[in-house]
Amino acid sequence: MIRLISPQEDIPAAFLMNRGVVSLELSSFRSYETFMLSAELKPIVLTGPNGVGKTNLLEALSFLIPGRGLRRAKLRDIRQQGHESPWAVSYQLNDGEGYLQIGTGQDSENPDRRLVKINGEKAKSQGTLAEWVSMVWLTPQMDRLFLEGSQGRRRFLDRLVYGLDPAHAQRLSRYEHALKERNLLLRQGSYDSRWMEGLEEILINEGVPITLARQEVILQLQGVLKTQDPSFPRPHLSLQGEVETLLQVQKSLDAEEELRQRIADSRGHDRMTGRTSLGPHQSDLMVIFPQKNQQAALCSTGEQKALLLSIVMASAHLLSVRTGAIPLLLLDEVVAHLDKDRRKALFEAILRLNMQTWLTGTDQSLFEELEGQGQFVELGRTD
Ligand SMILES: Nc1ncnc2c1ncn2[C@@H]1O[C@H](COP(=O)(O)OP(=O)(O)O)[C@@H](O)[C@H]1O
Ligand SMILES: [Mg+2]
Repeated sequence: MIRLISPQEDIPAAFLMNRGVVSLELSSFRSYETFMLSAELKPIVLTGPNGVGKTNLLEALSFLIPGRGLRRAKLRDIRQQGHESPWAVSYQLNDGEGYLQIGTGQDSENPDRRLVKINGEKAKSQGTLAEWVSMVWLTPQMDRLFLEGSQGRRRFLDRLVYGLDPAHAQRLSRYEHALKERNLLLRQGSYDSRWMEGLEEILINEGVPITLARQEVILQLQGVLKTQDPSFPRPHLSLQGEVETLLQVQKSLDAEEELRQRIADSRGHDRMTGRTSLGPHQSDLMVIFPQKNQQAALCSTGEQKALLLSIVMASAHLLSVRTGAIPLLLLDEVVAHLDKDRRKALFEAILRLNMQTWLTGTDQSLFEELEGQGQFVELGRTD
């Protein structure tokens, strides 16, 4: 199901950095009316003062995978203010064997819809992107990942899962669609019970594989974390929720039957809240800081940042060793918070990955260890 090379396996030197984005063109995208960048298959360092548009460029790259991008913005907020034309990004990528052209942007007829074109052909849905590109990112907004609700952690994990197993993106979208419909029926109060059963069947048919795929990836991630540079912490990860517990104690077929019963039994309760109380949309990624055997949420801010970076780098490693989609790593303002030793360890880890990494920072001097090995782009002031 999930195509992976063993995480411990060394990456053959010939594979190093042969895939990535080679050009990026934006139009009517936030601070950029038009912008074009030619990129090399190297770590790319974007520097410039606050507000110059560094994160905007990473955001533009984040639309190479399904979803709402790294800011989770509304599509209409991305269009350059005061401009009429819909925003668009076009990318040229090298997949190690040849070139690939991807375009995405706002639908001119429906500004809340994102269209995707792959090699000039309109894709059926955004989900198709997961077959071509996979991505991990770390942004300052994620500093609160362990403190906020479980949704952000699930999203983080799911991005990684569909990076490894593109079918996961479609599963999630069918699951979420059925979930929305069920909640709607519950709120309406009266419904056709066969219609309800049909929706619950979708929740089970998609929900169990969603859970299994997430668990499989956590297992793989745990394997990579064990071999990680000792300057990064090695957290213990697990997925917790009712479906996970059911799958743990029963074979998946029995678990499905039990789940079917429990969901049906929960209708009365769910009708009062208007929400489905059981399913993988309630699961949570638990992260334990090993040295202290402490939950990530209780760790200090610095410890949480280190944990997050460690998980992100392990995720990047997983993506980089799999064959298939072109992996990308986006690190927004990460380097400024690291001491010299951690920074060095991070750069070394980046250079070992077969994965184009995009880094941002205000000051080029923070990246001097990458000199000669990375492409440095200084973005000019716009004011
Ligand atoms: N829809 C938009 N239209 C025009 N400008 C925008 C839009 N959205 C954001 N911006 C501008 O983009 C700039 C922020 O760019 P950003 O990439 O976050 O900067 P940084 O280099 O600090 O990461 C801000 O000046 C903001 O006003
Ligand atoms: Mg920024």
